[in-house]
Amino acid sequence: MAVKGRVLSVASECVPLIKTGGLADVVGALPAALRVQGWEMQVLLPAYRRLRGLLPGLREVWREPNLWGGEGVVFQGEVEGVPVLLLDAPHLYDREGGPYNGAGGDWPDNPQRFAALSWVAARMAREGFAGWKPQVLHAHDWQAGYAPAYLAYGGPSGVGSVMTVHNIAFQGWADAGMLGVLRLPREAFHPGQLEYYGGLSSLKAGLVTADRITTVSPTYAAELMRPEFGMGMQGLIAARAGVVSGILNGVDTEVWSPEAEPVPFSVKAMKGKATARLALCEEFGLSVPTGPLAIVVSRLTDQKGIDLLPQVVPEFIASGGALVVLGSGDPALEGAMRGLEQRFPGRVAVRIGYDEGLSHRLFSGADAVLVPSRFEPCGLTQMYGLRYGTVPVVALVGGLADTVIHASPAALAAGVATGVQFHPTDAVAFGQALRQLVALYADPKLWARVQRNAMGHPVGWETSAAAYAALYDGLTA
Ligand code: ADP
Ligand code: GLC
Repeated sequence: MAVKGRVLSVASECVPLIKTGGLADVVGALPAALRVQGWEMQVLLPAYRRLRGLLPGLREVWREPNLWGGEGVVFQGEVEGVPVLLLDAPHLYDREGGPYNGAGGDWPDNPQRFAALSWVAARMAREGFAGWKPQVLHAHDWQAGYAPAYLAYGGPSGVGSVMTVHNIAFQGWADAGMLGVLRLPREAFHPGQLEYYGGLSSLKAGLVTADRITTVSPTYAAELMRPEFGMGMQGLIAARAGVVSGILNGVDTEVWSPEAEPVPFSVKAMKGKATARLALCEEFGLSVPTGPLAIVVSRLTDQKGIDLLPQVVPEFIASGGALVVLGSGDPALEGAMRGLEQRFPGRVAVRIGYDEGLSHRLFSGADAVLVPSRFEPCGLTQMYGLRYGTVPVVALVGGLADTVIHASPAALAAGVATGVQFHPTDAVAFGQALRQLVALYADPKLWARVQRNAMGHPVGWETSAAAYAALYDGLTA
């Protein structure tokens, strides 16, 4: 397809280079998805320790002499088809630890580290580089929030900007005293622009200055305008409702493909899934359950409702179910999960850690995936569940509301149900949803129908990529 335009995407994570959550999956998937729509996209990322070594044949395309205590050099390369730009600034990014923290907690200079990323993004978008001039700057989450702001405060640029919220819980807070340090205009320090409850928020800066705001599901877009979900930002987002839209994430259907698993299966040939289920029980020393084998693959945090599991799992186990948890995060929740494993040997297994390969085996072999989130901008694991006939049991929030069709009597009668939803996110409703799961599973014909529906539900990028393309088209028209 002919190139319609170019987008500079700026983010702190991108698969396959660096990932702490779904943000990385989405940022890494967008370039290929948009290429099909005629939009070229390059992704600007910090060159965290060891990242440069992962890309062969890097070439220098930009130099920024004065980047908060040192020089920044941008190298262009490609990894697994993703065109990336690495901002190399060792004084900011060459550290042992994660992208946001080391052994001692959050890096204290995170405001400068991500202001630097945003600063370079805005400059490169404005000037163009190596013969490549973007029409759109697309910023993801608080880490890139200052990018649309620097672009806007720098005067007319002819470059459109998009701010995407993947999670409003992380807001990029900084003390008001940082205004000058962060190269932000003093006259913009008021509630209509940069000021946020007496301080600064890079996310707010992006939300008030970008031409368009998107988030990762239509329901979350509506939720963000309400106090229960907006986390302080609801008013300013509601005030810009005319430029807000929700575009669902997709999943990479080549990576997440039951046909491509070691024990392949498909809607038409489900035998492989039964084999994978047995293998999973064996791998974890579980007795093969008479009821559903459920999984959780998640960050173990308050957002994900993991604390509800100890309240609902005993009854689920008593009614024949089994559970495997893969995740890491909050030490108290990790402990609670280990406690469940000790209490129910042979019925509950817990793996603390991050393991991509294991997550594929879990989705292949399990009957259901549990996602009891308190809020969920989009969520990816319920979509992996759909694709693998691993029936999602999800809280009725955000993207979980938009991607699963609840097995209500009407939906079952119409033959369209793909999973079980519950509301509110508490142990009573979650317990009831698990009871429904057990009942569905006990009816093999009905169960097979729900699995088939789930596996037929489209979870790829096509529709969403077209929506992003339309958004970019609108900015350049
Ligand atoms: P969030 O970004 O809020 O963590 P998402 O559902 O959007 O939630 O994305 C999480 C991503 O991380 C998914 O690709 C999921 O499979 C993956 N993931 C989370 N925890 C683990 C883990 N312990 N091992 C392997 N993959 C994990
Ligand atoms: C965030 C959200 C998650 C979403 C992901 C990618 O991490 O918590 O719901 O799927 O971003 O957009």
